[in-house]
Amino acid sequence: MRPLPKLLTCASTEEWLDLLVQDFKALAGETSSRGKPVHVALCGGETPRPFYEALRQTALPWPQIHWWLGDERCVPIDDPYSNQRMICETLGKDHPSFEKNWHPWPSDVSPDEAARLYEKELGVRLGTPPVFDLILLGIGEDGHTASLFPGSPALEITGRMAVVNRLPEAARAVGASERLTLTYPVLNAARQVWFLVSGEKKRSWVEAMERDPDGSFPAARVKAANQTIHWRRDA
Ligand code: 6PG
Repeated sequence: MRPLPKLLTCASTEEWLDLLVQDFKALAGETSSRGKPVHVALCGGETPRPFYEALRQTALPWPQIHWWLGDERCVPIDDPYSNQRMICETLGKDHPSFEKNWHPWPSDVSPDEAARLYEKELGVRLGTPPVFDLILLGIGEDGHTASLFPGSPALEITGRMAVVNRLPEAARAVGASERLTLTYPVLNAARQVWFLVSGEKKRSWVEAMERDPDGSFPAARVKAANQTIHWRRDA
């Protein structure tokens, strides 16, 4: 069983962005007002781009916010398929405070070493399991989340916080048969998890997430206590 997420449905991208930015400002403001750093794990893919663009232009307690990445594709950081590249082009572009608190996966070592180093940095800064104030997640068209794909080995890993995951043939995109991902112990420990979902094509996953406590697809296996789906239906 898992706690069912709250569903917030937005008819337009503008409404979706307004809601997300306000909720994020409230979360970051509340945490930083208690003198605590705000640790956020970002998601990749296309859906979050306009949200990251909007956040970049938002008055936030930037020096207190630490930006991590829930998963990464095993490609060079200048590859169009890199999540690090996408986030630096949207959220971090020309922002004076972003770089100092940006924690991407190591890219100049092997995937196994990158997972080991990321897990070590998470442990030093956030403990084991690392407790994020907020983890952003997407839902893929096969029900995956982060880089936890149906039928992939990382779904069953509980003794590691950050791993390399070998994608099943069906899930392989160009140039990334392997990915780096946080595991369920980290996702489940987060104070808040927000699923950012766009388009009618994902309605079946959204409805299953909201209604089925025993969902077995990867996104439905996230068991964080406080989950919200921010669904923008117009995309
Ligand atoms: C990634 C993401 C992945 C993504 C979903 C949805 O690295 O691709 O972390 O889990 O959130 O695939 O992607 P879209 O937003 O592009 O539909």
